[in-house]
Amino acid sequence: MITEQEIQQFSEIGAVTIDTPLTQQQLSAASAVFDRLLPFRDPEAGEQLRHRVGLTCSFYEPELLDILQHPFFEEVAKRVLHADRVSFFQTAIVTTYPQPNTPFSFDQHVDIQYCLSDLEAIPRRMVCSYFLWISDVTEQRAPLMYRPGSHRLIAEAREQQPELKGDIPRVAGVSLPGLPAFDYTDAIPVVARSGQVTVLTTAMVHGASINVDTAPRKVMVITFTAADVEIGLPQNQAETKQTYDRELKRRLRPERAHIVPA
Ligand SMILES: [Fe+2]
Repeated sequence: MITEQEIQQFSEIGAVTIDTPLTQQQLSAASAVFDRLLPFRDPEAGEQLRHRVGLTCSFYEPELLDILQHPFFEEVAKRVLHADRVSFFQTAIVTTYPQPNTPFSFDQHVDIQYCLSDLEAIPRRMVCSYFLWISDVTEQRAPLMYRPGSHRLIAEAREQQPELKGDIPRVAGVSLPGLPAFDYTDAIPVVARSGQVTVLTTAMVHGASINVDTAPRKVMVITFTAADVEIGLPQNQAETKQTYDRELKRRLRPERAHIVPA
């Protein structure tokens, strides 16, 4: 499922790619749903051409819920977060279409920042993010870029700030120029095969990149927290989650509905 060594890599590096038990059939079914929900569209008048198309906490397609409620993600989250019980937090699907004649470049930001004591608490007071690769992701095909270990440099510094310690971690995007200028490692790409998942923390400096390949890149993001750990969300995301959770609880299989918070 996930080894101790892989959990260690998640803690220190911030990302680890592992195999999942998902079948080729489940992945193909999900991929077809991506094509239906996230088509490449020519822009309408006044609209910008978009190569990155996504949806967050707004889909109920059985093929995607089948994946979201797979016990694998609950069980791995328990191990990674050192928690007896975990809860579904958020989900998104994103297709990044090829962008011909555009040089490779990538965004760099964090979505949340922790203190070291959050990362080391039992259970950990942090979000466990799964980037489930529905398509292969290569160095050319819009890999997620990340700076290994950068979340820990930020967390060590925050630990020294008494006004931050013990505060609820909150989702709030900060781009690289807005972060302390630590000696971060260089950014490297996540590469993986369809059906693998990258378990990561978005407290690492990371970001989406341009697809300079010829095939679309598809990822399903699923996040979990330890059951009783509170993570702050911006108001619009909190409201979306509340609505989504209510509906999701109704739609998951009865024996799996416990992963959605009440
Ligand atoms: Fe992000």
